[in-house]
Amino acid sequence: MKLQNQVAIITGAASGMGKAAAELFSQEGAHVVIVDLPASQGEQVAAAIRDNGGSAEFYGVDVTEPSQVQGMVESVYTKHGKIDIMYNNAGIPMAFTPIEEVDDAYYDRLMAVNVKGVFAGSRAVVPLMKKAGRGVILTTASTAGPRPRPGLNIYSASKGAVIALTKALALELAPYGIRVNCLNPVATDTPMLKGFIGNQDLEQGRQRFLDTIPLGRLAQPMDIAQAALFLCTDAAAMITGVDLEVDGGRSV
Ligand SMILES: NC(=O)c1ccc[n+]([C@@H]2O[C@H](COP(=O)([O-])OP(=O)(O)OC[C@H]3O[C@@H](n4cnc5c(N)ncnc54)[C@H](O)[C@@H]3O)[C@@H](O)[C@H]2O)c1
Repeated sequence: MKLQNQVAIITGAASGMGKAAAELFSQEGAHVVIVDLPASQGEQVAAAIRDNGGSAEFYGVDVTEPSQVQGMVESVYTKHGKIDIMYNNAGIPMAFTPIEEVDDAYYDRLMAVNVKGVFAGSRAVVPLMKKAGRGVILTTASTAGPRPRPGLNIYSASKGAVIALTKALALELAPYGIRVNCLNPVATDTPMLKGFIGNQDLEQGRQRFLDTIPLGRLAQPMDIAQAALFLCTDAAAMITGVDLEVDGGRSV
């Protein structure tokens, strides 16, 4: 098993790619800490992993509240004595919207979840990983960071910030044996996809994404989880500061 006895915190793990990663990491021997909003399906995801013989627990946390993130990390550390992996994956989408119609409240919420959440999760684990002299931090950005689409303006900006933060932390934390990498998924078949399509026809919206993906299909949550697993294992021991496209060739 690739993550035997490791402790992995995954935010946004009640759904989509975070849930797939929780299931895969658990199959590889990790204890998974599922972090998501209190009203999410997080407890059900954790229970299903335990029912399948894995080890998982759920924390209802809003990642935009650093004190909640800090409390969760301290509690996990107290219980398990270490944190090997912090996967900052929680995020929210935006529907295609002309910039002049984007309202302040949505801007603030999107930046809070997609950027401040990554900052809060990373900051909380770094002292513990520095003490351990090792650790892996993984973030979820998007192809929308390096390859923005018209109308995904502030979403693209949030993911560009995640990529820059990932690279900055990779340099800052390399001397402490902590690797920091990022995934850039293309349109992925998760509940979030509808959030990008908004009021457009669902099938037309999916097709619009599909038309830009050379491999001819949307990503599946497990495509992203497999890439996450690779970056979190020692197979990637020499990889830090990377934003890895998992995009069926869209960025070529
Ligand atoms: N689905 C796509 O097409 C796509 C493409 C590129 C990148 N992404 C990114 O991938 C990541 C995972 O998205 P997904 O597609 O699995 O979506 P999803 O909606 O299935 O899962 C996202 C999870 O994040 C949680 N979340 C949202 N706000 C939160 C908060 N404040 N605190 C804690 N949890 C919160 C949600 O409750 C949800 O369970 C996101 O960062 C997203 O921006 C998605």
